[in-house]
Amino acid sequence: MLILGIDTSCDDTAAAVVRDGVRIVSNIVSNQTDIHRKYGGIVPELASRRHIEMILPVVDEALKGAGAGLEDISAVAVCHGPGLIGSLLVGCSFAKALCFSKNIPLLAVNHLEGHIFSCFLEEPRPEFPFISLIASGGHTSLYRVNEFGKYRELGRTRDDASGEAYDKVSKLLGLGYPGGPVIDKLAAEGNPEAIDFPRPYLPESFDFSFSGLKTAVLHYLKSESKCQSIKDSKLQNFKNSDTLTLGHSDTMIRDIAASFQACMVDVLVRKTEWAIRKEGIRRVTLSGGVSANSELRKRMKEMGDERETEIFIPSINLCTDNAAMIASAGYYHFLHKDFAGIEMNPKAYLPL
Ligand code: KG4
Ligand code: ZN
Repeated sequence: MLILGIDTSCDDTAAAVVRDGVRIVSNIVSNQTDIHRKYGGIVPELASRRHIEMILPVVDEALKGAGAGLEDISAVAVCHGPGLIGSLLVGCSFAKALCFSKNIPLLAVNHLEGHIFSCFLEEPRPEFPFISLIASGGHTSLYRVNEFGKYRELGRTRDDASGEAYDKVSKLLGLGYPGGPVIDKLAAEGNPEAIDFPRPYLPESFDFSFSGLKTAVLHYLKSESKCQSIKDSKLQNFKNSDTLTLGHSDTMIRDIAASFQACMVDVLVRKTEWAIRKEGIRRVTLSGGVSANSELRKRMKEMGDERETEIFIPSINLCTDNAAMIASAGYYHFLHKDFAGIEMNPKAYLPL
C-alpha cells in the first residue's frame, strides 16, 4: 500500500511516498533556509508564501520519484499540527483538495507522532513499548510509547526547545540560522570543559528547561572584549556551515560552542537514562532535528551500551523535518480506520 505524506508545518515543504508504512519509495524536502537566514530565524509569512509556491512541484516530484500516479495512492497523510498555522494551512488545504477531487482517503497526522515514526523507516525497528525523546526546534519531550496511538508524555520543556536554544546561542555568537549544524561542527574542535555553563537537570522531573543555559551564554558574552572578539571573528560572514573555515582567533567561539553543547547533551542523555530506569524499558528512540547532532548520537549510544538498552536513531535526513515520517504514521491511522474528513483544520497547538 502506497501512502503520500505531506508536511508543511514549519519552513520545509516536504512530500514522500512510503510503502506499507516502512519502506521509503521517494522523499522530497524543499528547504527554505536561504530565505530565512538573513532574518536570523523563520519569518512565518515568508514561510507560508514559499510553501504555496513549492507544494505542487514537491508533491509532483515525490510521485514521479516513486514512479506512481495518484491512482496508485491508497491515502494521503498530512501533518495537521502543531506548527506555524499559515504553513500548516498550505499542506492541509492542498491535501484536502487532492483527496476530495480524486476521492482518496485523507489521514491527519500529528507532527510529533511523525517524528516518533521516523524510527520505523529503517532497520532495525523498535518494538513497543519504548521511550521516545523528541528534540527539535519547536519541541523537546520525552514520551513512553506503548503502541500506536498510546503515547504518555513523561516530560517536556518548560521554556525553550533544545533546537531553539541552539538557534538562539548561534545568533548570539553571530553564526546565523539554523544554529544546530554550525555549533555541532565548531563544538567538535572546542574544549567542552572550558566554560562551566549550568546543567538544568530539574531533579524529580522529566521536564526540561533550556532558557537559563542560553542566558548563561549571553552573560558570558557580555564583557566588551568578548563581544569584540566575536565581531572580529572570521566566522561572522559565513553563509553555510559546509564552507566554514576556522582561524586561531576563533578559539573562544569554539569553546563556547563545545561547552554549551556539552550541557545540552548531558541533560538530554541523563534525562533519557532516568526514563529508562523509571519506566523499566530498554528501548529508546531519538528523533527531531537535534538528534542529527553528532555528539548527542554518540553519547546516547554509549549510554545505551552501558545500560544494555537498544537505541534507535534515524539517519540524519529523517531526523529533521520530512514527509516520509508523516506517511509512516499515516499508515497506522489507515490500519485503525482513523480517517479525516473534509472539515479537518490544522491547529498550531496540538498535543499528542
Ligand atoms: O525537527 P526539525 O527539522 O524542525 C522542527 O520540527 O522544529 O528541527 C530543527 C532544529 C533546528 O533548531 C536546528 O538548529 C536543529 O534542529 N538541528 C540541530 C542539528 N541539526 C539541526 N541541532 C543540533 N545539532 C545538529 N546537528
Ligand atoms: Zn519537526
